[in-house]
Amino acid sequence: MTTPTPITTSAPAPTAGLAPTADPTPSTLDTPAAAGRRVLTGDRPTGRLHLGHYFGTLQNRVCLQRMGAELFVVVADYQVITDRDLADRLAEHTEGLVLDYLATGIDPDRATIFAHSAVPALNQLMLPFLSLVSVAELGRNPTVKDEIAHSGRSVVSGLMFTYPVHQAADILFCKADLVPVGRDQLPHLDVARTVARRFNERYGAGIFPHPEALLSEAPLLPGTDGKKMSKSRGNAIALAADEDETARLIRGATTDADRRIGYDPVARPGVAGLLLLAALSQGRTPEQVAEEIGDGGAAKLKRVTTEAVNEHLRPIRARRAELAADRAHLREVLNVGAERANAVADATLAEVRRAMGSA
Ligand code: TRP
Repeated sequence: MTTPTPITTSAPAPTAGLAPTADPTPSTLDTPAAAGRRVLTGDRPTGRLHLGHYFGTLQNRVCLQRMGAELFVVVADYQVITDRDLADRLAEHTEGLVLDYLATGIDPDRATIFAHSAVPALNQLMLPFLSLVSVAELGRNPTVKDEIAHSGRSVVSGLMFTYPVHQAADILFCKADLVPVGRDQLPHLDVARTVARRFNERYGAGIFPHPEALLSEAPLLPGTDGKKMSKSRGNAIALAADEDETARLIRGATTDADRRIGYDPVARPGVAGLLLLAALSQGRTPEQVAEEIGDGGAAKLKRVTTEAVNEHLRPIRARRAELAADRAHLREVLNVGAERANAVADATLAEVRRAMGSA
């Protein structure tokens, strides 16, 4: 299996106070023409999306949509039960994701936002797809291995082991050719490409495209403890957090006693994380932010970062609060999305069954 170099984008340079619906400089996206490409990506509804998601993939999605790509966004509800027994507060988390999408500028009139549990034909694709990968291949997936190690569970379910194949169904049911994701998802993209290639080879049908990953150029944003930002580690700043909560989280961030602020992700990960966060929020480089803070120490760094983040997110958060008042609208977005996704999935499944000789 060869891994093609993922396409990368620069994070769109946000202007302070930019309204979320304003154009976030799509010209920074050095992709082949986005117009005419079909993009699928998604998230598990396990909690609120955080700034790692926002700078890592949400901005890219909006960018691609503005450049004319056709966007599919999956709320991966079945994927929630890979590493836990129950999908806790599923409806609430699903609505929260839709709110995050709409608030950051995904347009539900143009994009298809849907839960994969609502699309039977998508799920049925999992069966022929499972026949195309070996148990050994599944066992080598580094992201799955990592998740098993972190789940702290003694029993690994069949779903945990096979969900990358289900994720391939998410991607291939709509024949997506571009998938904006974080680096941890690259092994799953490999699975999707393998499934597509083997299906096409085995059944002599050029049904499936080979989806490419689209990575953000924004360096990985660490959490407030300098380690990977993650919902479950308590070190994440949620997009939906209010300004006080944001200030509190940044105030509690791990830094050091050196008053001279400089950008050194290896030696000073906590300081570097805050500098990066401020820089992404202001469309500047971390070095420029460090220069401005000079020898103001951690206190000034935290003040500047808090202001930068809150200012950048203010219009997005305001729009999110507005949308949250209309839950019927959120349900409608998901219903319309499911209807469109079902039409596409039914057509693909019909092609697959024909190619396999079962229809
Ligand atoms: N596994 C992804 C995550 O945890 C979510 C996801 C599910 C996804 N299906 C997808 C991402 C399809 C991209 C394409 O973030």
